Order: sequence, then structure tokens, then C-alpha cells
Amino acid sequence: MDKITSVILAAGKGSRLNCDIPKPLLPLCGKKMLDYVIDAVKINNSSISLVLGHEKEVIETAYRDKVTETVYQDQQLGTGHAVKCFLDQTKLDSEYILVACADTPLLTKELISNCLNYAESNDFDAVVLTFETQSPAGYGRVQRFSKGLSIVEEKDATSDQKNINECNSGIYIFKKVFIEKMINNLDQNNAQNEFYLTDVFEKDLNVSSFKVKNGESLLMGVNDLVQLSIIEGSLNKRKVQELQRSGVIFQDPESCFVSHDTQIKPNTIIGRNVELRGNCTIGSNCFIDSGCIITDSEIKSGSTILPNSVLETSNVDMNVSIGPFARLRPGSFIQSHAKIGNFVEVKKSKIAEGAKVSHLSYVGDSEIGKNTNIGCGFISCNYDGKNKHKTIIGENCFIGSDSQTVAPVVIGDNCFVASSTTVSKDMPDGSFGISRGKLDIKEGLASKFIKK
Ligand code: UD1
Ligand code: CA
Repeated sequence: MDKITSVILAAGKGSRLNCDIPKPLLPLCGKKMLDYVIDAVKINNSSISLVLGHEKEVIETAYRDKVTETVYQDQQLGTGHAVKCFLDQTKLDSEYILVACADTPLLTKELISNCLNYAESNDFDAVVLTFETQSPAGYGRVQRFSKGLSIVEEKDATSDQKNINECNSGIYIFKKVFIEKMINNLDQNNAQNEFYLTDVFEKDLNVSSFKVKNGESLLMGVNDLVQLSIIEGSLNKRKVQELQRSGVIFQDPESCFVSHDTQIKPNTIIGRNVELRGNCTIGSNCFIDSGCIITDSEIKSGSTILPNSVLETSNVDMNVSIGPFARLRPGSFIQSHAKIGNFVEVKKSKIAEGAKVSHLSYVGDSEIGKNTNIGCGFISCNYDGKNKHKTIIGENCFIGSDSQTVAPVVIGDNCFVASSTTVSKDMPDGSFGISRGKLDIKEGLASKFIKK
């Protein structure tokens, strides 16, 4: 038999959100709220049972593979009823049951392990995780007795009970035999007409609370979208501080967003208003300057991303310089010592070692060879209205300003394309290409066109 099974209650409607997104699926730092709870409850490799009701199809589709089983609560008659639905339907067996709510995403594994140790070493039948706060409104209050405790919901509390500031986090550890027995004693005699899970705690029972110091920062719940944004801020701060402690320099940490899955090596500097979304990997000695937004990309050591550049699903090798105001669209691969300058857009292209695209250009579906220099205002004309085609430019080429390549086209190594040239045919290695209208100069004629 397993030591512990984790049950996540996620059947409720979340009516206080006033928003159509199912509560467990609310976006949080680039993931979903339920992802954080699932991560945290996975202690001792425990099995996870997910209780679903409201919007069960969408949630089940997204989470079927991330949990051990799903069980259903077709009518949402309260948290106690949700746990009863789990006990009636589960195929899992264990000595302890951890109950967590889908709306407490700041929870950590460490906290749950400590609570389990506390329950086990004192042989309690039930332990509730609690915290103290100056603003307890909305939470159940914990009333302690010399033996046992009870939990009073805000809506049922007397004014004296409302003054208690020890709150129920909604996370509990139960001995399975205890909860199986107690769950059948619940009734709906309360202000909300629900079966409250909290009613299994009573005076004189062998139950206890595990009060967490500064617990609000780990146990705060999300009932409305104001709390969601506060929690997003806390998760982001947690991530940024973890990186700061590991040697990453943030010039203005409060203004940056770093997704949960991002990794950054020490000695890298992150400027102001930087967002690192999705799954980013950044090496050491990089400088990600102010205002950059980088999504699902890898940047290797020693590279600089100058202000206000936007990178998506791209790879940047070592010692590259990008920006300012550059855009790398998905599939861009910029090799070491290359340079992408201001107002350059790159899409699905490889820019080889030491190549430069310094100003105002579009490089799409292209390969640019080693040490080739692309002048200002270059455009790879990759789209014929129906299909996209490739431009290949070899090594050590000079592509003059204001040139275009009409793809599909191949320019060999060591070629020279004069400025203002439209390359619509392949150019062999070492060739020179020019296409430019003849310039006529008529002396004195300007005055005819210039308004006085
Ligand atoms: C609950 C607790 C409260 C605690 C708070 C902590 C009860 C009676 N109250 O209140 O003491 O301070 O959490 O955040 O338990 N759910 C179901 N089925 C239902 C009802 C709820 O699965 O029939 C799920 C919800 O999806 C949610 C969780 O249980 O994930 C908590 O429900 P919620 O309505 O948010 O409870 P609170 O009023 O916050
Ligand atoms: Ca809640």
C-alpha cells in the first residue's frame, strides 16, 4: 500500500472569478494554475486523483496524462461532498490522503512533506495547514481547543470568530481510515447549504493544525482575479530571486517577468522590463538589455540582445549581437559572432558564423553563409503569392544595400551584389551581379519641379 495519495479538488465553479476560463486553467506565469498544484503534491511519488465537475471535459482533456485518475462530482455540493465522491470512486489505496485545492498554487513540496512528517510523528488522524494573516476575510477560521480544533467558515462565523486570524488553507492530511469514517457524518446545516469538509475537524478529536510561518505567501488562495494577479507577482518574484541567488544580475527585478521553465546561467545581466516567456535557456555572460521579450528560445553564452528586441522559438549561438529593435521569428538560427542589427526581421533562416545583417532588412526562409555582409535594406522576396521559397547566399559575400533576392535563388561563395540589384537568377561562386536602371542627369532641370 502507498504511503499517501494526493487528491486535488477542482470541481467547483469559481463563481467569484466572473470569468469564463475554468478556475484550474487560469493562466499563471505562462502555465496553468493547476500545474503548480500538481507539481507541489507530487511527494514520495504519490498517486494523484483529480476531482472534476464544472467544465470537466476541458480540464480532463488537458490533464488526463498528468494525473493518476480522475473522479467526478456531478453536482457541486461542497468540499466535503467532493472528498466523498473521491472516496466512493477511487481505485487507489494508501495510508494517508492529502487533500489540496486547485486554487492554492503557491504551495510547495517541502511544505507538504513537513506537514506529513508532523502528522505521522504525532500520529494525528487529521492535520490542516494554516496561516495567519491580517486580512482573513473569505477564509475559514481555525478555533483551537485544548484538544482538537474546529473550522468556521466566514459566512457562518460570529463576529468574535471573525476576529480570529488563523486561517484554513484548504490543504489537509488525513489518515484514510479517519476520513472514510468522518465523511459520512457531514450535513448541510450551514449558511451555504453545503457539505463542508472542514466539519470533520472537531473539538476533542485527535486532530491538529500545522501553522506555517509567513504562510500567506505559500497558502494564499485564488477566489478572484485580483488574487490571481497577486499570486502571479509572488511566483514571479520567487523565480527571479532564485535566479538572483544563483548569480544572475537583474537591474530592476520588479519590472521583469521570468517564466517558471526559464533557465539562466550565472553572470548574465537582465535589464529593465525584460520578459522571458515559455521555455527559455540563457547562457552565462549574456546581456539581455531593456525591453526585450523572448519566448521559447535558447541564447548561448556571451551574446547580447540589445533593447526592445523580440525573439520567438529561435536559437542564438555564442557571442552574437542582436538588436536593438530586432525581431527573430520562429526557426531563426543565428550562429556565433553573427550580428543582427536594428529593424531587421529574420524568419526561419540560418545566419552563419560572423555574418552581418546590420540594418532594416527582411531575411526569411534563407541561409546566409559565413562572414557574408548584408547591406542596409535587403529583402529576401520569399513568397510568390502561393508558396514560400528559399534564398541561399554563400560565404564571404557582399550584398549591397537595397538589394533583393527573388527566391528560389542561390548566390555562391565570394559573390558581390551591387547595391540596388534584384537577384532573380542564380549567381555562381565569385561572380558580380548588378541590375540597375541607367541614371540620366539633365542639368538645370530641377527648377522646373521645385515649387518656389
Ligand atoms: C475553502 C474552505 C475554507 C478555506 C479555503 C481556503 C471549505 C468549506 N472551506 O473555502 O475554510 O479557508 O477553502 O482557500 O472547505 N470544490 C469542489 N467541489 C465543491 C466545492 C468546491 O471540488 O463542491 C473545490 C473547488 O474547485 C476549489 C476547492 O474545492 O478548488 C475550494 O473551493 P472554494 O469554493 O474555493 O472554497 P472556499 O470558499 O475558498
Ligand atoms: Ca478557494
